Amino acid sequence: MQHAGLNLQQAPPISVPFRFFLTAPVFALLAAAVALWYGEDLFVSRWSPVTLAAVHLLTLGFMTMVMVGAMIQLLPVLAGTPVPKPRVVASIVHPALLIGTLMFAGGLLLEQLLLLKIAIVILGLGLAVFLVVAFSILSRARNPTASVFAMGLATGALSITLLLGLTLGASRAWGLALPSLSVRDLHPAWGLIGWTGLLVAGVAYQIVPMFQMTPNYPQWLTRGFTSMIFVAMALWSIAKWEGEEKVWQWLSLICIGLLAGAYILFAGITLNLQRQRRRRLPDVTLEFWRIGMICVALAALLWVAQQFPAMNFPRSDVLLGVLMIIGAGMSFINGMLCKIVPFLAWFHLQARTGVGGAMLNVKAMLPEKAQRMQLRLHLAALALCVAAALLPSIFVYPAALFFGAAYVSVLWNMISVVRLYRSFSLPA
Ligand code: HEM
Repeated sequence: MQHAGLNLQQAPPISVPFRFFLTAPVFALLAAAVALWYGEDLFVSRWSPVTLAAVHLLTLGFMTMVMVGAMIQLLPVLAGTPVPKPRVVASIVHPALLIGTLMFAGGLLLEQLLLLKIAIVILGLGLAVFLVVAFSILSRARNPTASVFAMGLATGALSITLLLGLTLGASRAWGLALPSLSVRDLHPAWGLIGWTGLLVAGVAYQIVPMFQMTPNYPQWLTRGFTSMIFVAMALWSIAKWEGEEKVWQWLSLICIGLLAGAYILFAGITLNLQRQRRRRLPDVTLEFWRIGMICVALAALLWVAQQFPAMNFPRSDVLLGVLMIIGAGMSFINGMLCKIVPFLAWFHLQARTGVGGAMLNVKAMLPEKAQRMQLRLHLAALALCVAAALLPSIFVYPAALFFGAAYVSVLWNMISVVRLYRSFSLPA
């Protein structure tokens, strides 16, 4: 079946992406539990073990979990090349990410170096399998579109994130010296600006026009944006690594300006395309993506402001993390889950049994009311997390409670789609 240039025959079995999508919200719930348990301690320092555990429950357990599942689903469809043995790949990568992230967060929280060491090995091996599979599909891509190219760069950025993350992890667990202190800034930046940002761009080029009925992204943007981000990130990394001399500080500042400017432009263009959409019906995914794009632009402005002492303020680091992780990354992922999970269930039902067409349309798989509840809770949680970043003593508990409620609703919605899918696909 062809759908808007997509080769859906290459799609893996539904159980492959769904295991990633269904487990991800559980990690967001665990992060809410950590926030409730540790309260204000979560915001004491960017580098405290509690903060790092919560950050990785979100970035590895929620975001990377969904992003890896989405890539295993989308890459073959977009590139026109199937994943070799998708069930085997999923049954290595998924448990590695699941157990590795749990042990990593547990090791940090309980200060158990052995747990941390085992986690680092499991995460390293499991994600290496994913990288090998992703690069092998990319190298055989029969349909090298801008989306596929962006996914290639995102995969490259994930490799760099992991290399730096594993170095940092090994330094904590085995007490090894870091090759450079800049690794502490480079790892989160490659994870959020590189891996997450580039994948969002690649998915947006395809999904925004197709599902949100907008005009296509301008060709000059799809041709240049992702390579420019990757090159600017590489130059910025060299500047950070090289250190204190004036020339490197200037290069770092120029790269930050370029990266922030490019992401603000990308967000502005996406918001403008959404304004021109042909179908004016309410669309929850579109609203999630709007929130995400606004947070991208705000985070980019804040990152630039941080470079000038006169414009910086206390706790700006924590606020930046909240805007990038919960405001941008998790909003995009929520929006995508609302669209792609019902779509895949409906598509597989049609392909397998012929049901779905007459009896169900794709909208009935996840009613708008349920999606809207997910959106409202996420928005309330985001607003409270922003407030908690600035005034933790007042807002940390309400933020944690709403955050938990938001991800109960995500989990509930995903489970309802699966239950509906199973009720149609099982013999009566
Ligand atoms: C194998 C996987 C990973 C490992 C072992 C790992 C390890 C670490 C470690 C040890 C730190 C603390 C740095 C320090 O001690 O100075 C850190 C920070 C961070 N990591 Fe990772 N990481 C991994 C994957 C990721 C991914 C995929 C992302 C993003 C998508 C990410 C985002 C972050 C962020 C945002 C911080 C900074 C936290 C803060 O400022 O509070 N990590 N990571």
